[in-house]
Amino acid sequence: MLILLAENFMKDIFKESRNGMRNEMMRRPIIKPAVLEFLRHKTPPLPGQLGALEKQAHEKGIPIIPHETVTFMQTLFNLKQPRMVLEIGTAIGFSASLFATCMGPTGRVVTIDRYPLMVSRAQQNIKTLGLKKQIKIIAGDAATVLPTLNLQCDFIFMDSAKAKYLAFLPDCLRLLKTDGVLLIDDIFQGGTILQPENCIPRRNRAIHRNLNALLEHVFNATTLSATILPLGDGILMITKQQTD
Ligand SMILES: C[S@@+](CC[C@H](N)C(=O)[O-])C[C@H]1O[C@@H](n2cnc3c(N)ncnc32)[C@H](O)[C@@H]1O
Repeated sequence: MLILLAENFMKDIFKESRNGMRNEMMRRPIIKPAVLEFLRHKTPPLPGQLGALEKQAHEKGIPIIPHETVTFMQTLFNLKQPRMVLEIGTAIGFSASLFATCMGPTGRVVTIDRYPLMVSRAQQNIKTLGLKKQIKIIAGDAATVLPTLNLQCDFIFMDSAKAKYLAFLPDCLRLLKTDGVLLIDDIFQGGTILQPENCIPRRNRAIHRNLNALLEHVFNATTLSATILPLGDGILMITKQQTD
């Protein structure tokens, strides 16, 4: 029985790996190793069951936000006090659970994932963490789910297929309140985003092109203010400004 469970787990991880699910960017940080070591291992770990979930995910190579992003999110949530959060890319429900925990019982998270294995793991973890009332998981591709949503979000976290960020941007901006914050994860591709396209392997060129188009669009939009945070593989941080 144990051998069967282990075999199934390895099959799942292998499938995740083929689907690009392993968090490659955990191994391609963009800051100096000593700073990274401090942020990942010398700052306090998360307490309790959420901390255990974070540790387990890193041990198994399951793609979740790195610890430097966790501490940034905690600080941001303290400052901005969001009440309604949208996430694209649930995986095992770690970041959604972090957001719900930061907000307390009155905060709400809607999170979308298209991969059934991840959705069922997230449902299980969220139940174990006692966060079912706060977090709603929508199973499906964000490309079809996003246009159907009608929310007023204080905070949106895009952490899904990188090639689709540009296509998801209009819906995210529609769903984001004025003065709300949109964070887009893993935008540097280990720094290769800034190289000319002909240096990029053909299989990664669509991601390269779309991420560059995203940066150009966001930094030139007069209704947005944007910056890049050197956390993990880089986070694009956007705030939506008053338009009148
Ligand atoms: C990096 S993981 C998310 C990690 C999670 N935010 C965390 O830190 O705990 C990316 C997830 O995005 C999902 N995903 C990728 N493209 C998607 C899409 N177009 N629509 C919905 N989910 C998508 C994948 O199935 C995967 O579970």
